[in-house]
Amino acid sequence: KPMFTTIPGSDLPYHVKTSSKITVVGVGNVGMACAQTCVTEGLVDELALVDIQADKLRGEMLDLQHAAAFLPRVNIMADSDYAVSEGSDICIVTAGARQREGESRLSLLGRNLSLFKSIIPQLVRYSPDTILLIVSNPVDILTYLSWKISGFPPNRVIGTGTNLDSSRLRFLIADKFDVNAHNVHGYMVGEHGDSSVPLWSTLTIANMPVLSICDKDGVKYSRESLQELHKMVVGGAYEVIKLKGYTSWAIGYSTASLVKSLLRDQRRIHPVSVLAKGFYGIDKDVYLSLPSQLGRAGVLGVASVQMIEEERRKLHESSETIWDIQNQLQI
Ligand code: NAD
Ligand code: LAC
Repeated sequence: KPMFTTIPGSDLPYHVKTSSKITVVGVGNVGMACAQTCVTEGLVDELALVDIQADKLRGEMLDLQHAAAFLPRVNIMADSDYAVSEGSDICIVTAGARQREGESRLSLLGRNLSLFKSIIPQLVRYSPDTILLIVSNPVDILTYLSWKISGFPPNRVIGTGTNLDSSRLRFLIADKFDVNAHNVHGYMVGEHGDSSVPLWSTLTIANMPVLSICDKDGVKYSRESLQELHKMVVGGAYEVIKLKGYTSWAIGYSTASLVKSLLRDQRRIHPVSVLAKGFYGIDKDVYLSLPSQLGRAGVLGVASVQMIEEERRKLHESSETIWDIQNQLQI
């Protein structure tokens, strides 16, 4: 005997069009942190996981499915065949090699280039209207590569970029002033990694410029102490990798914040890796992070923030660092 009885006259069965589907390629530390955060935050109705390791893939799928009683309802599927990704609104790519202790992100390029040449065409084939959100490192160059390979318009190819570095900076400032990091605003731009550029002049707590607060309290920030803070942001990832082997939680939350802005059309400004040509005097086809407005169509626009001459120069140096390596690629 069925537990529920259909009301006479009902128009059933009917097809429910689920509203959001996300694919995560690569179910390692980072992929699963992204998947878990998106599911926990109720951002996704269908989640597809893809990896080349069949057992790990199935294990991760089952483990997450077993949390069904504690999570918003979500249909989780997994396969090594990209057909599982069909019709995704966002495809998050986290597959590939990660840094060993002390290794730079840029040195991963050789190992991750060929993976991307096989992954991106498959995602495009099954989800021609998707937004590609690239996480694997070196994220700026792999995002550029994904743009080239996909043939997508640049608004639909985004790298997580310095959204994470900016959070690290906001955390350090929040900790120093004992305030909530949500009330600390400020951007890091440029390469996600060693040549990133902190825009000190954009840094505010409750709308008060941090630099002037420091001046008022007589805690003048010297050039050295600012450089020290930047070193702590850049060194943060290296320290975590040294201590636990990889970074995962912060990038998981960072990615979920981007997914939320995109899927929910939040029009929030995030520093993410975008096609930078034409902005701030950059004249090359490089992807690097700039404060960008994100919504359902992807990158809705790049903000014009004030930069002092030195910040602009450092942004250009960061762009050259990326370009020098990108220029040698055979795509
Ligand atoms: P991991 O080794 O734990 O996971 C990588 C996964 O990719 C593995 O499950 C592996 O099987 C899978 N994979 C390899 N080749 C594949 C292919 N061709 N198709 C599908 N899946 C494939 O590594 P991780 O710690 O999860 O790091 C993943 C990437 O994320 C690295 O490149 C790392 O540097 C990067 N990362 C980026 C950021 C960022 O801010 N952008 C932050 C942290 C890590
Ligand atoms: C990060 C990775 C390693 O956590 O890019 O910054």
